[in-house]
Formats: sequence, C-alpha cells, structure tokens
Amino acid sequence: MKEIENRIKDKFIRIEPDLKLAKKRTSDNPEILRESIEIPMQINGIGKNKTYCIQTFGCQMNAHDTEVMAGILEILEFTSTDNMQEADIVILNTCAIRENAESKVFGKIGSLKHLKTTNPDKIFAVCGCMAQEESVVNRILEKYQHIDLIFGTHNIHRLPFLIDEAYKSKEMVVEVWSQEGDIVEDLPKVRDNNTKAWVNIIYGCDKFCTYCIVPFTRGKERSRLPQDIIDEVKKLKIDGYKELTLLGQNVNAYGKDLNINYRMADLLEDIAQIGIERIRFTTSHPWDFEEELIDVIAKYDNIMSHVHLPVQSGNDQILKIMGRSYTREKYLKLFDQIKKKIPGVVFTTDIIVGYPNETEEQFEDTLSLYEYCKYDTAYTFVYSPREGTPAAVMEDNISLEIKKARLQKLNKLVNHYAQVNNDHIIGQVVNVLVDGPSKKNQLVYAGYSEGLKLVHFESTKELTGQIVQVKINDAKSFSLYGDLIN
Ligand code: 5AD
Ligand code: SF4
Repeated sequence: MKEIENRIKDKFIRIEPDLKLAKKRTSDNPEILRESIEIPMQINGIGKNKTYCIQTFGCQMNAHDTEVMAGILEILEFTSTDNMQEADIVILNTCAIRENAESKVFGKIGSLKHLKTTNPDKIFAVCGCMAQEESVVNRILEKYQHIDLIFGTHNIHRLPFLIDEAYKSKEMVVEVWSQEGDIVEDLPKVRDNNTKAWVNIIYGCDKFCTYCIVPFTRGKERSRLPQDIIDEVKKLKIDGYKELTLLGQNVNAYGKDLNINYRMADLLEDIAQIGIERIRFTTSHPWDFEEELIDVIAKYDNIMSHVHLPVQSGNDQILKIMGRSYTREKYLKLFDQIKKKIPGVVFTTDIIVGYPNETEEQFEDTLSLYEYCKYDTAYTFVYSPREGTPAAVMEDNISLEIKKARLQKLNKLVNHYAQVNNDHIIGQVVNVLVDGPSKKNQLVYAGYSEGLKLVHFESTKELTGQIVQVKINDAKSFSLYGDLIN
C-alpha cells in the first residue's frame, strides 16, 4: 500500500487523510498481520505509574476499537482511569456519522484545553472516524494546538509507535491512512464486560449509500478468516462469556471478499455450534440477506431472534437516490419472509427523515411502511450532510424545521409501537441475561431479554452475569418490569 510504503521505518512522516483516496476500491486482498504489535524498545513500560482514559463516541465498532486500544495501552503498563482530569493520556474515539456527533466531539476537544495548563505533559489524542476526514484534521491542526496526536481507524495497531512520537515531538503527530488497512489479528484487548463480548467479523463497507461517510472512514469490505473468528469465539466460551455480538458495518456481506465458498450463514452456523448461550449480529443490510441466513437463525436457539434491518425510507424514489439497491416491495418481501420463518422475531430498524427534497408524500410512505412493520423500536435521524458524500452536494428545498417536525411525527409512531409490542409481553416469561443491580437501588436488577428488551426485576441474591427467568407484569415503551422465577 502506497502510504505504508512511503513510511520510512523509525522516521516519522506526517500522513493526513485524503477522502478521494479513501473512496478508491482496489482489488488487492488485505494482508493478514499476526502478532504485529510493535513496541519500540524505548517505549517498553512507558506507562508505568501512568493512567489512560478513553472516551468513546458512536457505534459498537468504536466501542470495540476502544477495547483494543485499552489492551495495547495496558501492554505498555498504563492503567485505566475514568478521571479525564487526572489521566496522563486521554483518547477521544470519535464518530463522524452526523454533524451533531462531530459537534459533541469538538465541544469535548475544546474543554480539554485547560487541563494542559495544569499538566503540560499530558497527551491528548483524537482517533476514530472523524480522524479520517480532511476537514476535521485541518480544523484541529489550525485551532486546537493542545491536541498531541491524531490517528486513523486503520492505524490503531501503530499506537505504541505513535505514543512514542507524541512524547518526543513538539508538533502534532498525525498518522491517518486513508486506504483500507490490513487485517490485524492477535491484538490485545481489555473487554469492557465479563459476560458480553463484541467480535469483529468484517471491516469496512462497499455499499456507498449516498448519504453515508462510513465507506470513506472504514475502507473497503474485508472479512476476517473464518478460523480466526471461530478461535476467538472458542476462547470467549472458555473464558465464560455468555453473549457475543458479531460486528460489521454490513455483516451479511461476510465472506464475499474471501475466495472461498463460505458466507455469513456458514459462519453463524459454525459459531452457534460452539455453544455460547447467546449470539447476536449487527448490522444487516437487506441487500445481502440470504435465505440460508434466515434458515440458520431459525434453526439455532442460541442465535437470538432479533434482526436489525435498516430500511432508511419507505419510498422507492428516495431509496433509489440513497443508493440502497432495494425497493419498498423487495424490503417488505424480505421482512415477511423473515417473520414467517423465525417465529417471534423482533425487528428493529434505522430511518432517515428529511433526505434532500423529500416530499411530504414520500415521508408518508415511510410512516405507512412503519405501520406495516410495527418495529419493536427504531433509531431515527434527521438527514445530516457529510462532506465528500454525493448527497452533500444535492440541493435541498426542505427546511430544518420541517425535517424536525417529521422526526417528531415518526418518533410518536416509534414510541406507540414500542409500547404496543411491549404490552404483548405482559404475562410472558422471558430469559434475561443480568447486567447487574441498578445504581439507584441495589435490589433492582437490570438485564436484556433475548429480544433485546431492557428488563427490571427485584432480587436479594447476586445475579450479575447469570441468565434468569422473569415473568413480565408491567411494560413501558422502552423497558419491561417483572418478577424473578426461581
Ligand atoms: N445523516 C443522518 N443519518 C445517517 N445515518 C448514516 N448516515 C447518516 C447521515 N448522513 C444513519 C443511517 C444508518 C445509521 C447508522 O445512521 O440510518 O443506518
Ligand atoms: Fe453507510 Fe450504507 Fe454502508 Fe450502512 S450500508 S455503513 S448506511 S454506506
């Protein structure tokens, strides 16, 4: 890869992001790097008596990247703290999906400045999807000189080297590879939870929906090898994990880029047979949702009957200009097929309102699709232009006021069906994986059902990490309440 070849070992070269380069898709297969974590001699043990704090914004992919960064920092002997004021290294792992996500991060970056005056040796780093954007890096270089290090989503395994540079350099250290990185196996991880684990199965996205920045920030679709994933899952089982979530921007594309006849359905089946109690996966694109996959979900009790199936819009013209590659009819056909084959399946979705020039009638189509699908819940957003994406240069005759009103109208429907669906569960007994007691009341436990519903119940016994049965007797739109069954 050009950028990597340009890097002369042991001589740091500033590499800034380039969205045009990020858009390119090469036919090269990614290299698989193993045990590749480089610890420069001079940085060995550099974290002794020092602490780190990572703040994560955005999706599960970022949450899992944070676990990897924590693993790397702990190898360098840093210890974790929640106290950003005291931490010797502060990392902001950022999200670029919408403008308000970015504004939040810039607010945080600004608020860190005064901490530098009390401790000038502190290192501040910015990474994640925002680091992949030229405009963001330029803005930080110009206005936020208290940041010491910016690194990209493909540069995480280079953290020891980059920290070393940040300590040595008087200038801001920037290393953001724009083209997709290699697949780096065997990186250390400090998992945030003892019972639930994230497992990456595919990186990147090739769908290029016209509104979305992710294909630019996360590179092309690269599947991990089946055996690497299976080995990780077997280890998680031995370590006592009860639930795992297979991660990818589009998990259903798993295996398409590998030159073997092995797809998401095969992987899911092999993982199910390892015997972990609960398997989830996210996110699915309707595009690659094959019938074999539906059959595998239906076949195994330990694959949770929950499908997150982003629809984005219920109108064919909008779907077309979004580049979603399905029509309303095709989506609903898939929806019905899944519903028929997987009894009791829970559906959730993502919806964008106020796409450029979306008419009232087109928005009504989204509402009528929602009425048909009656999702258990939905993540709903006002369209946010992202620099570099095709939609960002489209003219738009819909005011923000109208877009916000549409969001409100849609959210009313979301809440309504969330309540209706939850009311149906009253009287049923559900299996709950217990997260732990609530902060306010140690006797009230919270956990999630198989359908990913938040459930509260009382118990005097310590139940954290166990799967228990709860009889539901009350329902709100976003949580259920019940009694523990012994
Ligand atoms: N504006 C608003 N919402 C967006 N999403 C992705 N890009 C944008 C954007 N530019 C939403 C989609 C996606 C979810 C993760 O975020 O609904 O499924
Ligand atoms: Fe973005 Fe579309 Fe890829 Fe999802 S499938 S990450 S919305 S480009």
